[in-house]
Amino acid sequence: MTNKINELNKRRRDALAGGGQARVESQHKKGKLTARERLHFLMDEGSFQEVGMLVTHRSVDFGMETEKYPGDGVVTGYGTINGRLVYVYSQDFTVFGGSLSETHAEKICKIMDMALKNGAPVVGLNDSGGARIQEGVVSLGGYADIFYRNTMASGVVPQISAIMGPCAGGAVYSPAITDFILMVENTSYMFVTGPNVVKTVTHEIVTSEELGGANTHASKSGVTHFACANEIEAIQHVKKLLSYMPQNCESIAPALPYDAQNELRPELDHLLPETALQPYDVREVIGHVIDEGGFLEVHKDFAENLVVGFARLAGRSIGVIANQPAFLAGVLDRHASVKGARFVRFCDSFNIPLLVFEDVPGFLPGTDQEWNAIITNGAKLLYAFCEATVPRVTVILRKAYGGAYDVMNSKHIGADMNYAWPTAEIAVMGAKGAAEIIFKREINSAADPESKWREKEQLYSETFANPYRAAERGFIDEVIEPAETRLKLINAFKMLENKVVNNPRKKHGNIPL
Ligand code: HXC
Repeated sequence: MTNKINELNKRRRDALAGGGQARVESQHKKGKLTARERLHFLMDEGSFQEVGMLVTHRSVDFGMETEKYPGDGVVTGYGTINGRLVYVYSQDFTVFGGSLSETHAEKICKIMDMALKNGAPVVGLNDSGGARIQEGVVSLGGYADIFYRNTMASGVVPQISAIMGPCAGGAVYSPAITDFILMVENTSYMFVTGPNVVKTVTHEIVTSEELGGANTHASKSGVTHFACANEIEAIQHVKKLLSYMPQNCESIAPALPYDAQNELRPELDHLLPETALQPYDVREVIGHVIDEGGFLEVHKDFAENLVVGFARLAGRSIGVIANQPAFLAGVLDRHASVKGARFVRFCDSFNIPLLVFEDVPGFLPGTDQEWNAIITNGAKLLYAFCEATVPRVTVILRKAYGGAYDVMNSKHIGADMNYAWPTAEIAVMGAKGAAEIIFKREINSAADPESKWREKEQLYSETFANPYRAAERGFIDEVIEPAETRLKLINAFKMLENKVVNNPRKKHGNIPL
């Protein structure tokens, strides 16, 4: 028995050594942690249980039969994060550059299958040179096996991908199908084809960082939801993200204990600027309304005209979507629409109630928007809200103009409770533009067209630049003082706790993609 145990321990030690000391040092020199160090920081202490530690590849070409490392470049298993079950894989760049072999893929698929059966999130820590070049098509097949499972798990269990090194070629499509991507600045990159191929095909000269680094994808493409300064920050973000989510689509996110207290927030009465033309940061409104402990903003640097993120209200997890008047006046454009739609759909998939703060002058005009399908993209946000069955509450802070009024979680498309501040302006368009159109003849024939215009603008504004027309119709359930907002929302979400809505049975909808 002693000999047998010694052999087991030797095999375990070999697996723990990864690709060996020199490669571990090289990993550290690049400012990167190893696969196991990452797991150490991610999982609750002592909770990680490895699955498949002794798996090796079956490849025989190019002398591979003699070059084997137990684990085959990926550490897989399960454990807890903040006390809750999570399945995890962590690619080991020190073994064949973390490249994906047939068996490496099988290990990932195994824990994904377990996650689906047991209804728990999957977290992937990616650091890989892509398909194992020595293996050819079986490696490609392995990727496809993962993509298929990512898709089947989508909307069933939360899936999070942290990119902590290279992630290139077709490999990018697994993270892309998952719910959230986090990237580490300067040490991670994602692209379908790298700088060399780009140079050959398009003659563009670009570095890996410019082409597919964390900041590029956080601000330009929106591929990543978070750009983190380092790996530890990325791991902390993964943990925080998970805290807002349920384990699966059949459960609800855990609530934090909350004792009712004075919920009035008088600061909100003085937060909006003097005139409707002036900007303000909607994050200040969010900050005064939600529980202390913060707002986890998603896609912070992408489509900044719409702010989305997770928060808690009276201890319960909610998703917040807010127009941002401080950026492009809070207009909806194609990027903001897609950003909002994806967030709404995530929250709806996982039973996270939606809170919308609305201050939107409409959709952004222009050839860039029209030629890049603002019609199709704007429809995504509309569609996402329409099909969402979670509790949905809107607060109109100021402008709710045109189609954007309908889109931003109006009662007409299924919102449960809609509030307006007394500063709300709910109309087809701004008073100035409206007056110009409907009083065109009167303005043009007036002795002083300019003052006539102002007079008509005033008239339109008095008629529609308020919340009362909508309240008279019941499109607004209540006009509230800003200071009461938090109190009203706590009560509304509590009232909606057991909401049940069944959309018509279908195979699946056809969201305009
Ligand atoms: C096998 C690989 C590998 C791979 C790296 N290695 N990528 N082994 N298959 N895809 C090995 C190297 O041989 C080396 O082994 C070790 O990993 C570290 O690699 P280095 O090149 O020394 O590291 P670095 O300088 O940091 O460069 C990292 C890298 C580079 C940029 C990722 O290795 C690289 O370009 N690799 C190839 C990337 C690629 O073309 N992959 C296929 C993409 S197509 P030793 O023994 O020296 O430590 C693809 C299709 C997926 O993935 C399709 C899905 C549908």
